[in-house]
Amino acid sequence: MPILVTGGAGYIGSHTVLSLLEKGYDVVVLDNHSNSSYESLRRIESLTGRNVIYYEGDVSDRLLLKRIFKDNKVKQIIHFAGLKSVSESVVLPLKYYENNVMASIVLIEEMIANNIFELIFSSSATVYGNPADIPLKEISKVGGTTNPYGTSKLMVEHILNDVAKSCPQMDITILRYFNPAGAHSSGLIGEDPNGIPCNLVPYISQVAVGKLPKLSVYGHDYPTHDGTGVRDYIHVMDLAEGHVAALQHKASRSNCRTYNLGTGKGYSVLDLIAAFERQSNTNIPYEFVERRAGDVAECWANPDLARQELKWSATRGLDEMMRDAWNWQQKNPDGYKI
Ligand code: WQD
Repeated sequence: MPILVTGGAGYIGSHTVLSLLEKGYDVVVLDNHSNSSYESLRRIESLTGRNVIYYEGDVSDRLLLKRIFKDNKVKQIIHFAGLKSVSESVVLPLKYYENNVMASIVLIEEMIANNIFELIFSSSATVYGNPADIPLKEISKVGGTTNPYGTSKLMVEHILNDVAKSCPQMDITILRYFNPAGAHSSGLIGEDPNGIPCNLVPYISQVAVGKLPKLSVYGHDYPTHDGTGVRDYIHVMDLAEGHVAALQHKASRSNCRTYNLGTGKGYSVLDLIAAFERQSNTNIPYEFVERRAGDVAECWANPDLARQELKWSATRGLDEMMRDAWNWQQKNPDGYKI
């Protein structure tokens, strides 16, 4: 039976679709292209020599979901579809609650109505708010989220935990991503944010390729080894392989399990600039500016639970992330726009 991947044309979704196809799974993608390009799927098909069954539309479209489920005998779903800009969510909270929470409720209702019980949900380390204890474990305190995006992810986590309690047939895996970065080594698929990137790595990539003049480093007075923000950057292919590992894991305990997908290492903004310059042989001009509202000083994962239960660990280091990010950007200065 094929795996339904919602948001499968997006950054993490497309890399996961590629990994699934390479592992021999059949894949159905549902995507509304609000922040993705069909071109990514076309390139995945040429990379793998395998076809993807594709539907354009919204997760909240019940009739479309019913048709997809019926036409493809779906039994497992990986749910990426959603909006993910922290800054946009502050300006348009209802858009985020509608797309990230309400659409997820429709998906869960239609899954149960169609006897589909296996779901992997794309969550985020943002649910930890301002981390109390670093490195973060799955049992670390969540909440105190500083933006509607993070709150929407936490709301869906709560909904999934409650649904799992009420419906023992459900088999739910929640994956909390830290900071995805990099691209497939071919440079054919990668991160293609709409407009000016909010995230550090695509911003640095666009400075390196000449699309942006310089990087603003948000804050130089954090209590970290060099005063700049520290995060747990994880190669998007490691993240993709973590989803395959979650799909293959046969639950032995709770029917709703949560895992951090991170490397367990923290790197600062200046560490990333240095690594990117080494890998791209370019110079990244930057200037220190004020801290960005809502940012935390440092955040990285304790990845032990995923290693123990999913038999998965990140294997790619910072240099490989920066090399692959540069390779994608250099080959696709305008992303998927042809
Ligand atoms: C990383 C570091 C910034 C841009 C967010 C979401 C999270 C996840 C990943 C979806 C911080 C600094 C950044 C820039 C900078 N997304 N920075 N100049 O904020 O850790 O996490 O994206 O799941 O949910 O919250 O990632 O890449 O925006 O920032 O100095 O132009 O780079 O201050 O220290 P963040 P980021």
